[in-house]
Amino acid sequence: MVLKKGDRVGLLTSGGDAPGMNAALRAAARVGAELGLDVVGVEEGYVGLLEDRVRALDMRALDEAARRGGTILGSARSKVFPTPEGQRRARETIARRNIRALLVIGGNGSLTGARTLRDVVRVGGVPASIDNDLACSSMAIGVDTAMNTIVEAIDRICDTATAHRRTFLVEVMGRDCGYLAMTSAVAAGADCVLVPEAHKSEDAIVDQIARAMEVAYANDSGKRRVIVVLAEGVKMESARLKSAVDARIASSLRDVDTRVTVLGHVVRGGAPSAFDRLLGARLAHVAMRALAEGESDFMAGWSGPGIERAPSRHDPYVVVSPLEEVLAETAKLMEGESELARWRRKIFEEVEPILAR
Ligand code: F6P
Repeated sequence: MVLKKGDRVGLLTSGGDAPGMNAALRAAARVGAELGLDVVGVEEGYVGLLEDRVRALDMRALDEAARRGGTILGSARSKVFPTPEGQRRARETIARRNIRALLVIGGNGSLTGARTLRDVVRVGGVPASIDNDLACSSMAIGVDTAMNTIVEAIDRICDTATAHRRTFLVEVMGRDCGYLAMTSAVAAGADCVLVPEAHKSEDAIVDQIARAMEVAYANDSGKRRVIVVLAEGVKMESARLKSAVDARIASSLRDVDTRVTVLGHVVRGGAPSAFDRLLGARLAHVAMRALAEGESDFMAGWSGPGIERAPSRHDPYVVVSPLEEVLAETAKLMEGESELARWRRKIFEEVEPILAR
């Protein structure tokens, strides 16, 4: 059933924040207003539903927030929401507040949470996670900004690394997904990249770095630094990896130093890039229109290779996929069993020797 003028739609940002979430909120609020809907904000993700924290949105505050990272509504990873008690309280808030539709902006866990409410409210999702680990969307909100942040950081590290002829292990976020590490390594011109999808043993990882160093510091290479991008999903703690690499090169490369930089949450903050602002706006636009037209249990994603679905009639770059399919395909992606996972793994393998040259 289509939404009527005056029907209430709740906006909610959940899970790890991502630059561009505010731009998505702003667009959702504006499109909702244009459609005559009563758009409200739920504070701190699903925690706001548990605690009945629902508020009116201030359009001017959203306009300002759209330039900034984080999320003006706050975010959280609630452990209570999935429990029977959490579900009961969330449903009570939805009924009490007369919320007819919920737009959830977040990653895999957040969209999984959205699905649990589909019997009491229309639910739509917009992918937002710097990890780019969701299927049915070639890009999630926040990935582009995170990539830019990493590249800028590596550019700076390169200056000092080159001055000292050093090797830097740069650890970047991405949870269990190597996408962010790989794409930023290529963009930054790193010499080596380590991603969880490669499933390498600790010995093989140390070997790969030592080899990259030996090639780089050979007399005729002209290189004065080695940048190794390490995805956080590679389960070898970076300080321990440094010690193992130091031990491996102790006799072959005596005058070469290694250092570790863990970029951590620096990667998740900062003003969203123009692309992330636009992506947030376009995905939220289509999602709000789909909710208004009576659709439910879907995610609005960014089209790309391997996404066969026909585009939304509201935007030729946006595809609306059933949440069930999104979550099932995402699980396959993370297990390395989807076509996209195989394609990524192949690219990752091909890139490795090219970077090391
Ligand atoms: O999912 C986004 C992300 O930033 C991951 O890259 C990272 O592993 C995780 O969240 C960190 O979560 P938290 O901020 O809860 O420590």
